[in-house]
Amino acid sequence: MFEIANLAFEKGEDSNCKQKNKDVLIMLSTYFESHFKHEENFMQEIEYPLYELHCEKHEQIIKEINTFIKIMSVMDTQTFELELGMFIEKWLVQHIIYEDKKIQGFLNADNETIVEL
Ligand SMILES: [Fe+2]
Repeated sequence: MFEIANLAFEKGEDSNCKQKNKDVLIMLSTYFESHFKHEENFMQEIEYPLYELHCEKHEQIIKEINTFIKIMSVMDTQTFELELGMFIEKWLVQHIIYEDKKIQGFLNADNETIVEL
């Protein structure tokens, strides 16, 4: 994920910038849809009690990425980079730190296999 995000911060020619940034966001969106699907299947397998709530959070993140893709055309490069950084911190890092960790906590509490999600 961070490798993909770093692409957005690489400087390029202005004419290529917007298309490159859009490509990066589409890659992020595709990456997360696939990661979330995998995680959702896993939560079902272990009968995770917060499954529905967690899926809603995934949906919200995908919605936010898609909104970001729509509005980015009106942003200049500097604003885009700032917004992208905040987006990654608010939606992705926080989700991984707080929400995905709860799945691991559930597994630990049940003495089941600890897996890295
Ligand atoms: Fe998740």
